[in-house]
Amino acid sequence: MDKTIELVNAIKDIQAMPSVIVKVLNVMKKPTVSMKELGDLVIYDQSLTIKILALVNSAYYGFSQQISSISIALSLLGMVKVKNIIVAVAMKPMMSNAGDKELWKHSMRVAAGCEYLAKLTKVMDADEAFIAGFIHDVGKIVLHTTNPKMYDKVVAITNEGHDILEVEKKYFDSDHVRTGSLLAKRWQLPILLANIISYHHNPSLSSIPVPCNLVCFVDKLMQEAFDPNTLDKDFLKTMGLDLGDIEELRKVIRQKAELLIAELT
Ligand SMILES: [Fe+2]
Ligand SMILES: [Fe+2]
Repeated sequence: MDKTIELVNAIKDIQAMPSVIVKVLNVMKKPTVSMKELGDLVIYDQSLTIKILALVNSAYYGFSQQISSISIALSLLGMVKVKNIIVAVAMKPMMSNAGDKELWKHSMRVAAGCEYLAKLTKVMDADEAFIAGFIHDVGKIVLHTTNPKMYDKVVAITNEGHDILEVEKKYFDSDHVRTGSLLAKRWQLPILLANIISYHHNPSLSSIPVPCNLVCFVDKLMQEAFDPNTLDKDFLKTMGLDLGDIEELRKVIRQKAELLIAELT
């Protein structure tokens, strides 16, 4: 059996996991979805509701009034933003259960960065950019769950400046793009998200390169060992930015993301 299929099949929790997420994403695909339908998906899960409200009330969204119910959140923030928050909150235990505390934080940073840059440069819809940034590394959960110690080793080697996909391939005979792509297929994720997962390390191969480029760009920006030389200069130009903006941009995005992360850690 193909190694990627073997790895994904071995993790039963992951295949059963995303019921609320899949429901939320599927509900959003319907053109006539009502706020009630979306609200009903989470309202019966008290701990999820509490965490969602904590995020909605965080300084990131900047509301002066306290938001005390999902239905008020929906009317103030809009359905797409609330959907994004639901997915980010609902996936936290899965990402953390995989023992990889850094993965959820990294995903939130890339989500916040993509949202911010999309709003600033108008290269794509900002709400879609958030969820695209959040989901990009979902395949890492499979590798980390399979062998946490070995995956920590992969991360350490990658932090020394090696290509992550090559290091993963060496230790796991697969990589997080392959495992993520298979998850996206099994979960029937929307095309945009499946594309981000498959091509965020190779945006030029994607049929929708702009969102993949954006995620790839912010992903690099949020690395601990960030190297400006790895950024795609053409895409930088497309966004109307230049290398001189990068350090400030990195600082602003990190600060914004910390506002979200602080509410849930
Ligand atoms: Fe990645
Ligand atoms: Fe990443």
